[in-house]
Amino acid sequence: MDLAGKHIVLGLSGGIACYKSAELARQLIQAGATVQVVMTEAAERFITPVTMQALTGRTVVTSQWDAREPNHMPHINLSREADALLIAPASADFMAKLAQGRADEVLSLLCLARPAERVPLFVAPAMNREMWAHPATQRNAAQLRADGAVLLGPDAGDQACGEVGDGRMLEPEALVEELVAQLQPRPLAGCRLLVTAGPTFEPLDPVRGLTNRSSGKMGFAVARAAREAGAEVTLVAGPVALPTPRGVRRIDVETALQMHEAVMAAVPGQHVFVATAAVADWRPVRAAEHKMKKDGSGRPPAIEMAENPDILADVAKRPNAPYCVGFAAESHDLLAHATAKRERKGVPLIVANLGPATFGRDDNTLLLVDAHGHRELPTAGKLDLARELVREIARQLSQTT
Ligand code: CTP
Repeated sequence: MDLAGKHIVLGLSGGIACYKSAELARQLIQAGATVQVVMTEAAERFITPVTMQALTGRTVVTSQWDAREPNHMPHINLSREADALLIAPASADFMAKLAQGRADEVLSLLCLARPAERVPLFVAPAMNREMWAHPATQRNAAQLRADGAVLLGPDAGDQACGEVGDGRMLEPEALVEELVAQLQPRPLAGCRLLVTAGPTFEPLDPVRGLTNRSSGKMGFAVARAAREAGAEVTLVAGPVALPTPRGVRRIDVETALQMHEAVMAAVPGQHVFVATAAVADWRPVRAAEHKMKKDGSGRPPAIEMAENPDILADVAKRPNAPYCVGFAAESHDLLAHATAKRERKGVPLIVANLGPATFGRDDNTLLLVDAHGHRELPTAGKLDLARELVREIARQLSQTT
């Protein structure tokens, strides 16, 4: 329930993407928000207020002359109640109206009347690619940003007209993720955070290798939570099948050596480094060029192994090292192992968990160990835990600066 307690005014202007707004309204409600829909006359050509009313349980507002509002001021009432205004879809014409500050129907009127310092305006453009690329639309988009609106998208891909390019409305899922991110507190604004995630894969031959059961979920949740908190996030990911959190720069790697190289290249200028990756401690010295075959002797091949560099320890010992957070996946004696690991790696904070109990799962229990003691974060979803961890990191940073 990432939007629990939030009241969202969802504005629809005229465009074929209106059909996605029905699903968007549902997903906002599933995330805990209450949703008040406002539609322009053009939007009503694409989807009916009946659909939107049935989904949101609220009468849709379509006119500033609606006599049901006792004070006859829907633009004031709607914009004062809202925690955010989301225009999805925002047509080229509607963006032009917003950029000009026109107010000749209820949706543009309430956008103009919103208390800008308290109620953010999110605009999700949706139009043909030529319309989006047109200098007039680009000028309007720049003007909207300058006036404090947040543009979400557009996306690139297939368009309803049959053309392919920039201008599609973001999918409802992406819009909800953006809104959740934008409405979180931002204690890491202005910070750069680097995070490693997932397992590494150390090849033995072209088809086999050594890896582990880390799913990457915790690291991806940390990346998402840090970005929500306002940080500029770089995520170095081992081989995992997870979608990149929105707004996060992702670098894919396979082996520990590649992860080490990517981290060392990205670390200058970072304020925080969070090492969630389950990096293989050892790698085969060389991968066979061809698949290793049984030779009939019954003896398995001897594989010469070498130790991988410790990425976290190498970052921690750099001059001007970022604030370093290590993870410890243990099987027993969590506190003792985490305390020893914190000292060995030379990092201010270790986050310990029971590896076998968490790999691949959506929830986890964490133990935070720093120089002053330890604190348990009770079992919760990985995203909730990641948000709590990010709050803790922000607290620590504010004490050291
Ligand atoms: N780590 C790393 N590079 C490595 C090994 C580990 O950056 N080559 C990081 C992990 O991302 C994690 C922390 O170090 O943040 C602890 O990793 P772990 O494998 O649990 O610890 P080890 O140092 O390998 O200790 P042990 O094998 O004794 O548990």
